[in-house]
Formats: sequence, structure tokens, C-alpha cells
Amino acid sequence: MKMKTFQLGTEIFMGELDISSVCPDTKSVFIVTDKFLVESGRITYVTEKLEAAGIPYYVFSDVVPNPDIELVMKGISIIDEFKPDTVISFGGGSAIDTAKGIMYFAVRTAGLPRCLSIAIPTTSGTGSEVTRFSIISDHEKNIKYPLVDDSLLPDIAVLDAHLTVSVPPAITADTGMDVLTHAMEAYVSANATDFSDALAEKAFKMAFDSLRRAYHQGDDLEARENMHHASCLAGMAFDSVSLGVNHGMAHILGIRASLPHGRANAVLLPYVIAYNAGIQDVGGEKESGAAKKYARLAKLAGYESYSVRSGVVNLIHGMEKLCREFKMPLQIKDAWEDQSAFEASVSEMSRIACEDRCTATNPRKCLPEEIETVFREAYYGKSKYLKM
Ligand SMILES: NC(=O)c1ccc[n+]([C@@H]2O[C@H](COP(=O)([O-])OP(=O)(O)OC[C@H]3O[C@@H](n4cnc5c(N)ncnc54)[C@H](O)[C@@H]3O)[C@@H](O)[C@H]2O)c1
Ligand SMILES: [Zn+2]
Repeated sequence: MKMKTFQLGTEIFMGELDISSVCPDTKSVFIVTDKFLVESGRITYVTEKLEAAGIPYYVFSDVVPNPDIELVMKGISIIDEFKPDTVISFGGGSAIDTAKGIMYFAVRTAGLPRCLSIAIPTTSGTGSEVTRFSIISDHEKNIKYPLVDDSLLPDIAVLDAHLTVSVPPAITADTGMDVLTHAMEAYVSANATDFSDALAEKAFKMAFDSLRRAYHQGDDLEARENMHHASCLAGMAFDSVSLGVNHGMAHILGIRASLPHGRANAVLLPYVIAYNAGIQDVGGEKESGAAKKYARLAKLAGYESYSVRSGVVNLIHGMEKLCREFKMPLQIKDAWEDQSAFEASVSEMSRIACEDRCTATNPRKCLPEEIETVFREAYYGKSKYLKM
């Protein structure tokens, strides 16, 4: 059997950014962020501290959701002129992934030295601050690629939950459901270990217990901090053992239906849990390892379950209930009304989802025709395991 590994890399600082502790040797900084964070003045969290330390900086604020390769290329042309020794990404997963893409290709295509990579997340969702993943879109081909490489791992992550208090409820829900999906997919991953399980269980429990509060009371700092740390813990878990078909499907669905990443995951989640658990077999002889693990998560979420099967069903209902409470779509059709466009691309989307790098570690080996069925169930909201 192939050996499994577990490795930790990023140094994590918790609390308000302090330049002299985090990067005392930095001489110049390239900041990667988005327009909203600049125009709302939130970027001063970084720039004021750099100014006080007398460190010159350049703010690259062109990041948009679902960053693409053109954006990365634009960043490289500026970094090539500015020649910083440090890159600080400040924002959600889109900003962090863009910074990772810029650094990755700047070394390979422009021959630039690798900069110190510091990630400061302002959403609690992707865990990108501690992962070797960068998700870059190709808008021409209408595809999202997970780039996975050791060099993408940030050297330093700064977790300051105060930064997330301003995240509006809809984005809190999208990103929070992403955390739950990361924790669950890492937990049932074909490569899961005791080490990744410890991280995934803790992340799942913290996120499940705090997400509602963070959604309804955005200024509840305790809930925000729990979500921020859960996001990072889930990132550590999936960085080690990768994800599954939920992300494989969400990548292509997100780009085809123009859905935020977390929302694309959330709408698929109940259907993918049922598929992975092989729910029609749960309780019978063929009960899968994934089903038992989902049942354990249901227990962690506080559901009384008298069997593995009822545990899986409770978990599915729990995810459905969260989506309902957060006013998220319960079926893809609610977010992508053009049924003929869906039908025209579902077969291709299913093939692409199976080829997505994240799908390789799914606990159930996926066949495109099976994934097409899951896509259709999720599109039309057809599952006897949902309450709806
Ligand atoms: N690299 C990884 O490991 C990984 C994992 C999962 C997802 N991703 C990728 O990350 C991206 C999604 O990232 P995301 O979900 O964080 O969303 P995002 O970065 O696209 O941000 C969503 C919105 O939130 C706003 N925002 C950010 N911080 C805010 C704040 N503090 N207050 C108010 N608004 C704020 C942004 O301006 C933006 O409009 C997708 O491209 C996804 O594929 C990467
Ligand atoms: Zn994700």
C-alpha cells in the first residue's frame, strides 16, 4: 500500500498584524487585494503598518472573484518592475489564490526569485492561507483549474478575526458552507489519516456550532473567531489529504452557473453525501467507510442517531436546514434557471468534474454517468433523502 504523509508548513500568527514579529527583514511589499477592500479603507490595516515601519509597498487591487490567468499575468508584469521581497495577500480566497498564482508563475516564467509569502484572510472560508492549492479560472474554456504545488504554500498566515466582522451575511454563509465542505471532504477523503481527521473533526464542530451565530450576529467576535480558526483548521486538513467530488463538481458548476465557490459547494452537499455514503446500501452489508464517518460527523453536530443510516440522513438534513436558514438555493435550478443550458452541458460538466484534481481522493470512485445523475438530482432537487 502507498505510504501516507502528514506535513505542516505555514507559520500561523493569531491576532493583529505586527510587522516586526511577522516579517522583520522585509524591505518592500507587493500587496494583492481587491477593489472593495481598498475603496472601503480596509487595506489600511496593512498599509498603515508598513508606512509606520518605513517599508515601501505597491497595492495591486485588480482581484475579482474566480481569478483567471490574465489577472495573474498582469500581476507578474507589475511585480517584475517593482521587485519586492515580500508578497502580502489581503482578502478572501480570490486574493490569496491570485497572489499564489502570481508568485508561482513569476518564478517560472519571469525567472524572479521567490518572495516571502504572507496571507491575511479577510473571509473565513477557503483556508487558502495554509494550503498548496490555488484555483485559477480559464474563462475562455470556461473551466476552473486547481493548481497544486508545494511552492504555493504561504510561509506565514495571519489570522485576525476582527477583519471578518464586516463580511455580510450572504458571504458569511457562502464561505462558512465552504469550511464545512472542506472539513467533511477531508474527513471522508480516501487519503485521510488520524492527523487530518483530528483537524477535520475540530474544524467541523467549531464551524457547525458557530456559523449560525456569525451569520445572524456579524459582530459576535467569538463566533467570528471560531469560524476563522475553523476555516484554517479545515484548510490544514484538506491540504494534507485533499478533497473530493463535491469540490470537483463545484468548480465546474461555479464557473458555468456563475455561483460563488461556497454556494456551489453548499447546493451540491446533501446530494453528494447521499452518493458517497451509498445511502441505499447503508444499513445493509455494503455499509461504506464514508457512511460511518458521516454518521460520526452527525454525532459531533449533536444529532441523536440510532444507526449509521440515520446518522447519514441526519447529516444530510442538517446541511439542508443550514442552506434553508441562510436563504441559499436548495437545488441548482433556483440559481441557474436556464434549464436547457444546464441540460446541454451536464454531460460535459460530469466528465470535467471526474477529471478535476480534487475528485481523485473522493471515497467513492466516480463514474461520469453517476456524477451526471447526482448533478441532475441536485438541479431538480430530486432526492428522497431531503425534506424540501
Ligand atoms: N486555495 C484554496 O485552497 C481554495 C480553497 C477553496 C476555494 N478557493 C477559491 O477561493 C475563491 C473564493 O474565495 P472566498 O470565498 O473567500 O471569496 P472571495 O475572495 O471571492 O470574496 C468574496 C467577496 O467578499 C468580499 N470580502 C472579502 N473580505 C471581506 C470583508 N472583510 N468584509 C466584507 N467583504 C469582504 C470580497 O470583496 C468579495 O466581493 C474561489 O476562487 C475558490 O475557488 C481556494
Ligand atoms: Zn472550497
